[in-house]
Amino acid sequence: MMKYDLVIHSGNVVLSESVSRIDIGIQDGKVVALETGLDPAAATQTLDATDRLIFPGFIDCHTHMGIPIKDTWSADNFESGSRAAAWGGITTILDFTVQARGQSYRQALEERRGRAQGNSHIDYGLHVNVTDNNPAWQHEIGELISEGFTHFKAFTTYREAGMMIEGDDFRRILGEIGRHGGFLMLHAEDNELIAQATAHNLAEGNLAPIYHARSRPATAEAKAIKDAAALARDLDAQLYIVHLSSQAGLEAGLEARAKGTKIYLETCPQYLLMTEGMFERPNGHWYITTPPMRTAADAEALWQALADGHINTVATDHCPFTIVQKESGGRDFNRTPNGIPGVATLFPLLYTYGVRDGRISLKRMLELLAENPAHIFGLDDRKGKIAVGMDADLVLWDEREMVELHAADIPGAADWNPYEYVVVAGKVTHTLSRGRILIADGQFVGHDVRGELLVSRNSH
Ligand code: URP
Ligand code: ZN
Ligand code: ZN
Repeated sequence: MMKYDLVIHSGNVVLSESVSRIDIGIQDGKVVALETGLDPAAATQTLDATDRLIFPGFIDCHTHMGIPIKDTWSADNFESGSRAAAWGGITTILDFTVQARGQSYRQALEERRGRAQGNSHIDYGLHVNVTDNNPAWQHEIGELISEGFTHFKAFTTYREAGMMIEGDDFRRILGEIGRHGGFLMLHAEDNELIAQATAHNLAEGNLAPIYHARSRPATAEAKAIKDAAALARDLDAQLYIVHLSSQAGLEAGLEARAKGTKIYLETCPQYLLMTEGMFERPNGHWYITTPPMRTAADAEALWQALADGHINTVATDHCPFTIVQKESGGRDFNRTPNGIPGVATLFPLLYTYGVRDGRISLKRMLELLAENPAHIFGLDDRKGKIAVGMDADLVLWDEREMVELHAADIPGAADWNPYEYVVVAGKVTHTLSRGRILIADGQFVGHDVRGELLVSRNSH
C-alpha cells in the first residue's frame, strides 16, 4: 500500500510567509505531507518541480459561464471555462446564479447547480443573484445562508435588462441578508446617471465604442457605492463591491469604510492594465465590458490600493463573447454584448505586472488571489493556501519562460483575447485540482470531470 498518490519534489513551495524548498505528499486529494526528502518509492506517482515555484491554486471569485446578455449567451460554459481557468492556474471559480423573472432565488440556484454539476473540471461556488424580488421568497435568504450560500449579488443598474433592484426592494433584501450574516455583492453604477448619458449619446448618434465609457462615467460608480454604503451602515449589513474600476469609486469605498460600513472591494485586471483608449482601436467594440476601462490615473490609484491592502481581491468578471458575437451589434456600443474573457490570464498578468514589476509583493498577490477570497467566501478550511489538510489545488510556475499570450493557446471558447501578444513572465506548467493533474507541460490533460460545488463555512 503506497503512502502517497503523488509526491511533488524539488519545487519551491510558496507558503504564506516564505518560499521553501520542500516536497509535497498528496493522498486522496489532500496535502498530507510537507517536508524535505519524501520517499519517492512511497508514492504511486511523482512529479519533478525543479526550478519551479509551487503556488496554492488560485481563486477567481467573479466569473460568468454561459449567461444571457443582450440576446446572446457568454461563450464559455462551465466545461470550457473551467479548462481555460486551469490553464491559467485557477482551481476555484465562484460564479453566479441566473434568476429568471418569476423564479425564486432557490429555483434559480437549483437550475444553475444543474448546469454546473458534472461539467466543471475545477471546484466551483455559486453566488445567489437577486434580479427579481418577491416578498414571498424572502424566507429563502436566511435558509440559503444557513446552507452555505452566504453571498448574494445585486445590480444598481441594467434596468432595461430587468436586472436592477431598487428602492424598498433593495433595502428589504440588503436588510434580510445582513440580518442572517450574509453579504451582498454589488455591481455599483448609478442607473440614473447612466440612463441620462446613454440617452444623450444615442440621441446625438454617438454610437462608437468610446461612448460606452462616456455613458458610464466614474461618477456613476462613486455615487452608487456611496448610496449603498450609507444604507448598509444603517442596516448593519456587509457589502462587497465587484469590479471596482475608478479612483472615484475607490475613494467612495474607502470613505464608507472609514465611516464604519463593512465593505470589501474587488478589482479586475482590465482596470489595472487597460484604459478607455482600448475603445478607440479598430476593434474597440470587442473590449466593451461594464464598467468600462478608465484612465491611466485611475489604474494607478487601483494599483496603489492593492499595494496598500485597501482592495481585498482581484477577480476577472470573465464573460467572453466570440468575435462573431461581438460583431453582432454592428459596432454600436449599446448593442454589443458586454463582457471580456479573463479567467485564464488573471494570475500570469498579476504576477508579471504586479509582482515582477514591483507594484505588489508576492505575499500581497497570494492574499489577493488565494487567501482573501478563500477567507471572505468561507472556503479557507479547504482552499487558499498550501498546508497539511488542505485540498491539493496546486500550480507549478516556470519563471524561466517568457510567454506571449494568444487566444489560440487557451483551451476555452473565446477566439480572441484582450491581452493578445502581451508577454507574461512565466508559464503555468502544471495545475492540479484536488491532486488530479489537469494541466501538464502547459496542455490540458483532464478527462473525467470532477469539479465539486463548494459552500461557505461561514454559515456555521
Ligand atoms: O460587462 C460585463 N462585465 N458583463 C458581465 C456582467 C457584469 O456586469 O458583471
Ligand atoms: Zn457587473
Ligand atoms: Zn460580473
